[in-house]
Amino acid sequence: MRQASILYFCVGILAFLSDTWVQAEDPYRYYTWTVTYGTRTVLDIPQTVILINGQFPGPNIECVTNDNIIVNVINKLNEPFLITWNGIKQRRTIWQDGVLGTNCPIPPGSNWTYKFQAKDQIGTYNYFPTTAMHRAAGGFGGFNIASRSVISIPYPIPVAEFTLLISDWYKAGHQALKQNLDQGKALPVPDALLINGLSKGASFTGEKGQTYKFRISNAGISTSINFRIQGHTLILVEVEGSHTMQEVYDSLDVHVGQSVTVLVKLNSAVKDYFIVASSRFTKPILTTTALLRYAGSNTPPSLPLPIGPTYHVHWSMKQARTIRLNLTANAARPNPQGSFHYGTINVVKRFVFANTAEKINGKLRYAVNGISYVDPSTPLQLADWYNIPGVFSLNTMKTTPVNTPAVLGTSVVGTELHDFVEIVFQNNENTIQSWHLSGTSFYVVGYGDNVWNPSMRKRYNLLDAVSRHTVQVYPTAWTAIYVSLDNKGMWNLRSAIWPRRYLGQQLYVRVWNNERSLFTESDPPPNTLFCGLAKRP
Ligand SMILES: *[C@@H]1O[C@H](CO)[C@@H](O)[C@H](O)[C@H]1NC(C)=O
Ligand SMILES: *[C@@H]1O[C@H](CO)[C@@H](O)[C@H](O)[C@H]1NC(C)=O
Repeated sequence: MRQASILYFCVGILAFLSDTWVQAEDPYRYYTWTVTYGTRTVLDIPQTVILINGQFPGPNIECVTNDNIIVNVINKLNEPFLITWNGIKQRRTIWQDGVLGTNCPIPPGSNWTYKFQAKDQIGTYNYFPTTAMHRAAGGFGGFNIASRSVISIPYPIPVAEFTLLISDWYKAGHQALKQNLDQGKALPVPDALLINGLSKGASFTGEKGQTYKFRISNAGISTSINFRIQGHTLILVEVEGSHTMQEVYDSLDVHVGQSVTVLVKLNSAVKDYFIVASSRFTKPILTTTALLRYAGSNTPPSLPLPIGPTYHVHWSMKQARTIRLNLTANAARPNPQGSFHYGTINVVKRFVFANTAEKINGKLRYAVNGISYVDPSTPLQLADWYNIPGVFSLNTMKTTPVNTPAVLGTSVVGTELHDFVEIVFQNNENTIQSWHLSGTSFYVVGYGDNVWNPSMRKRYNLLDAVSRHTVQVYPTAWTAIYVSLDNKGMWNLRSAIWPRRYLGQQLYVRVWNNERSLFTESDPPPNTLFCGLAKRP
């Protein structure tokens, strides 16, 4: 017994050393980002936006699988600030997730350095601020992870790639939006859609006969979009880190917080073409354009714009079901994506989470299973690590929807490390939802109308469902996911629709086991910020 545990310990040390050795071998990329307010005329009036190193949107991070990313964020706003790396799994680095449940905010006038690794990931992602309504003012950007040169990719390498951040935009400014929400009022439909911060005139140039990669993120706060390019089709190759079956689409829906990667072949006549993003499920419909220009073209694009779906919920649900994993393709590792066989794993825990819009104390709030989340002043992750009582309690939240009026609370659901879990998102509201889970990706096994019940399991895709970090739930409909909780920590399960998250449509999933081990989690980094009840030990 004793010998066995010593042996186990030695093997463990070796594994740990080799793991840190690998990390040390992987390249480091250093960034210093100064975050300031600035004035930009985004629509027709000058307004305050958030700049990173003077840029709106912020700079894109371009890296390779397993790169170490070091970002020193200098907060020159007059408010606390955090950035999250949307979809970066933060394997054993929960301390870098950049939400108020895991991190104390960076105080105004100071700086804090994020350190994490793009471990075993490929694909198109983005980052954005999570504090207050900062995200509505900018501070977001692309986060692209290329495959290592030794790993094959399931399509010919395109000659060049373009990153498109598509966002909705309000003239009102983030402070006014925040005030509006603080008073318990819903936000109106945004004023416009932007492509890379521009309401029109963004342009992307390529050579006739060549293929280009378009990395597209919906970096907005509330609006689903449809994306299309006049005279061209989109070949979907990747969704949030998964290589997909390479289906051809005339247009693609991208919901808030989601990213897709498509290939576009420039095989039309040499001229300019409209790139169109239009809003889904809004009245009025917002439309914005950019240009796809063929090198040497001096012919402007011609109207009409290619038409896209407007309300058409079933069109979108049908399209969503066609987005499937390519089981034989690999992603960041050499083994095929299909080798995990998620459909054969026993589900050990099940949750049904229903969103509601309700009034609490006369003000609009959004809730999940009867609890509208409020951030405690002590980050949950710090409270958990240092055993600080009174910050949260596990399982105060029901695991299925409730019929009682919603209350304010700090909802944390408990799970164990390596639990394989089913989550059903039930949407009884008449608006589109977008749900994100931090720390891991999940398999989207089903979408359906009305109210989910256990017989819906018969319809699940247990073979080649796509694995992603953010999923839409259609109006009065449900979406089911399977997730393997292999990353210890307090992970934010949130509405990616920011006014909803801001007013309480979020919770935390505590992934835990009673063993403190550097194999499964890292100690708080030396620069950990302390706040609330958490004091530097
Ligand atoms: C703040 O920035 C300085 C360099 O400008 C750096 O040495 C220091 O480590 C940073 N502080 C934190 C907490 O990251
Ligand atoms: C799936 O991936 C393989 C690489 O393993 C690739 O050759 C094939 O074209 C892909 N199939 C589709 C339909 O995308």
